[in-house]
Amino acid sequence: MARINDNYLKLAAGYLFPEIGRRVKAFTDANPTAKVIRMGIGDVTEPLPPACIAALHKATDELAVRSSFRGYGPEQGYDFLREAIAKNDYQSRKCDISANEIFVSDGSKCDVGNILDIFGADNKIAIQDPVYPVYVDTNVMVGRTGVAAANGRYPGLVYLPCTEENGFSPELPSEKVDLIYLCYPNNPTGTVASRAALTKWVEYALANEAIILFDAAYEAYITEEGIPHSIYEIPGARECAIEFRSFSKTAGFTGVRCAFTVIPTALMARTADGSKKDVHSLWNRRHCTKFNGVSYPVQRAAEAVYSAEGAKQVKSTIAFYLENAKLLREGIHKAGVEVFGGINAPYIWLKTPHDLKSWDFFDLLLKQSHLVGTPGSGFGSCGEGYFRLSAFNSRENTIEAVDRFQKLT
Ligand code: MLT
Repeated sequence: MARINDNYLKLAAGYLFPEIGRRVKAFTDANPTAKVIRMGIGDVTEPLPPACIAALHKATDELAVRSSFRGYGPEQGYDFLREAIAKNDYQSRKCDISANEIFVSDGSKCDVGNILDIFGADNKIAIQDPVYPVYVDTNVMVGRTGVAAANGRYPGLVYLPCTEENGFSPELPSEKVDLIYLCYPNNPTGTVASRAALTKWVEYALANEAIILFDAAYEAYITEEGIPHSIYEIPGARECAIEFRSFSKTAGFTGVRCAFTVIPTALMARTADGSKKDVHSLWNRRHCTKFNGVSYPVQRAAEAVYSAEGAKQVKSTIAFYLENAKLLREGIHKAGVEVFGGINAPYIWLKTPHDLKSWDFFDLLLKQSHLVGTPGSGFGSCGEGYFRLSAFNSRENTIEAVDRFQKLT
C-alpha cells in the first residue's frame, strides 16, 4: 500500500481558520436567528477598486478577440506588472529592486509554504511566536520538526517569543539559525518593526549567513512615519532577505488571487559542498516547473492598483478599514481591556478579560455576543490569553461589535 507523508500526522487536526469556521457553523446551525458578526479570518469586505474592475473587464475583452488573445504567460509574471511593482513599491522608496527580481504568484500563503522546496532539510528555522500559522505548519509538513508538545510547540523549531514585555519585538536567537521568518506589520499582533529592529535582524542574518523570510502582506496599512515598508530599506538586505507581498489585503484580492515574492539576485545560500549558489535561479526553476503564472486579466487588475486613480481608491479603502480598527481599539480599551495593534495593521490584539484562555474567550464571545474573533493561542503558545479581531468589516458591523463587546465585559 502507498505510504503517506507521516509528517502530516504531527499537525493539529485542522488549520486554524477552518476550525473557527467549523465552530461558527455549529453555533449558527443551532441558533439560526443569531446575527453573527465575523471578525475572525482577515478577509476583506469592501469591493475591488473600480480601476481594477475596469482593467479586469478590458483584459477579459482582449481575450475574446483572436488578435489580442493570450495563452500561457511568463511564469514569473508579465513585464508590465513586474515593472510597475519594482518602480512603485521599491524604487520609489529607494530600494534597489528590479523587475526581474519579482516573481508574481497567486498568493503569499502559497509562496511562503512553497519556498521551503528550495532550502535543505537541515536548516535551522526561527519563527516568531505568535505568528501566521502557515510558517510553522509548512515546516512540520516537510519534516523539520518532531511531534508537538502539550503547548503546541514543535521540537526542531526555534521560537522567537513576541510578548507584551518585549513590545512584541523578539530578541535575536541565542543559537545560530539559518532561516528566519519575520512578519511585519505583524499578523496577529498588529505591531510593526522599527528601522533599528530590522537593522538588528539584517546584521544578524549577514553575520550568520542566514536568510530572512520577510512577510510584508500588510505593508499598505503602515501609517506611522519612519516605519520601513520593505526589508530592502535596510542596507545589506539584498544579500540576506526574501520578501513576500500580496494584493489581497492591499487591494481586496483575497478572492481574485495575486501576490509576489522578491528574490534579489545577490542572495546566496550554500550547497552541500560548501560553495555558494544564488537563490533566485533556484526559485525561478521551481516556479517554472510547478507554476504556470497568474491569469492575464488578474495581472492587469493588479497593475491598475498602481494607476493614479487605482492608488487613490486603494488608499481610501485602507483608510476605511483603519478607521474600523481605531473604533475597535478605542471602544475595547474603553471597556477596560488592554489592546495592541490596529494603528499600522488591520488587526487588534487584545488581552482576554479575566485571564480567560483564548479558546474559552472565543466560545464566550460567540455564545454571548455572537461575535467571532481568532483565539491568540492559534498563532502560537505565546498567544495564549490573547485574542485577535479583524477590522475587515462594514462600519455598521464594527460599531455594533464594539457595542456588544462593551456589554460583555
Ligand atoms: C488571517 O486572518 O490571518 C489571514 O487572512 C489569513 C491569510 O491571509 O491567509
